[in-house]
Amino acid sequence: MTAATNHQWRLAHRPEGMIKTSDFNLVAEPVPELADGQVLIRNIYLSLDPAMRGWLIDRPSYVPPVQIGEIMRGLAVGMVESSRHPKFEKGDTVQGLFGWQEYLVSNGEGVTKLPSSPLPLSANLGLFGLAGMTSYFGLLDVGQPKEGETLVVSGAAGSVGSLVGQIGKIKGMRAVGIAGTDEKCDWLVDGLGFDAAINYKNGDLRGQLKAACPNGVDVYFENVGGEILDVVLSVMNSFGRVVVCGLISQYNATDKVPGPYNFAMVISKRLRIQGFIAPDYGPRVKEMITDFSTWYMDGKLKYRVDVVHGLDAAPTAINKLFDGSNQGKLIVQVSEV
Ligand SMILES: NC(=O)c1ccc[n+]([C@@H]2O[C@H](COP(=O)([O-])OP(=O)(O)OC[C@H]3O[C@@H](n4cnc5c(N)ncnc54)[C@H](OP(=O)(O)O)[C@@H]3O)[C@@H](O)[C@H]2O)c1
Repeated sequence: MTAATNHQWRLAHRPEGMIKTSDFNLVAEPVPELADGQVLIRNIYLSLDPAMRGWLIDRPSYVPPVQIGEIMRGLAVGMVESSRHPKFEKGDTVQGLFGWQEYLVSNGEGVTKLPSSPLPLSANLGLFGLAGMTSYFGLLDVGQPKEGETLVVSGAAGSVGSLVGQIGKIKGMRAVGIAGTDEKCDWLVDGLGFDAAINYKNGDLRGQLKAACPNGVDVYFENVGGEILDVVLSVMNSFGRVVVCGLISQYNATDKVPGPYNFAMVISKRLRIQGFIAPDYGPRVKEMITDFSTWYMDGKLKYRVDVVHGLDAAPTAINKLFDGSNQGKLIVQVSEV
């Protein structure tokens, strides 16, 4: 891949089930000359997020679907290579929806300059990125946690879930995680300080939850859906809150998915169920950055990043989110920092 050529993944057709490389075309285009008011950005890291699977489905949502022939949408951090834009200069690090490609020529709209930071650049896609926003506002604003309450989070070893449990601990909650391997569960308890972690693949989820949550569950942070949601509903306390962040178990479904069979619990236990979209909290991002900076410096927030190398790998790497093989925030390194 040369500096004069921009490789891009463009949507070839809509995936059925799990994403396949053949759902995209890898296209090579020359990097265009800059006009006045434009900036050339070189992508360094691409964020791979479960929501991207939903962006490939042709249905109304909070963002329009990616159209056939378009470059795959995706959050990225990059570096300004050259600029004829008054706000940007060569060497600036920037963030935005730059897409699955090596270079982007932009008029500066939607391009955010990143402040200098002692943290690695990739942290802007995890701890201080979408995962940070999602965990912080999802738990604190939507979940309304109280000291002494019990928090259960599914997808607990992932980039969002691992932060949710740690924020719960900071707020004085009992934090219980649900994850898909014993290694992930050990990391949650020994590495992050969760009070307990349950491997949902070990069976008897209800029995495991009742043992881990002797006082019931007050806040459930939902990342997964399906069977896990139903089981947690059955152990919720009255007036509990269910924060619906994601339903990853259903994102690759090819048929209609069944609704929760324990839905009547919502009435008898007077539960509040609320979904949310993290980017809605954009105007309040400073609250998260202030708290996270303090907590991180105090050693109270830890995170891990799973880096896959090369733009070529993006369409296969995204499935790590769906088979559970990602170890933390999943990103693709497109070029050197
Ligand atoms: N509402 C919002 O604004 C917003 C923003 C960002 C993310 N989200 C949602 O947050 C959730 C977590 O996202 P993330 O980026 O942090 O991903 P992640 O948790 O780092 O990775 C996804 C994890 O989901 C688990 N998983 C996959 N399929 C599953 C299944 N069928 N049953 C149970 N667990 C399954 C896997 O872990 P195991 O090994 O534990 O199975 C996998 O590692 C997703 O649902 C995503 O859509 C929502």
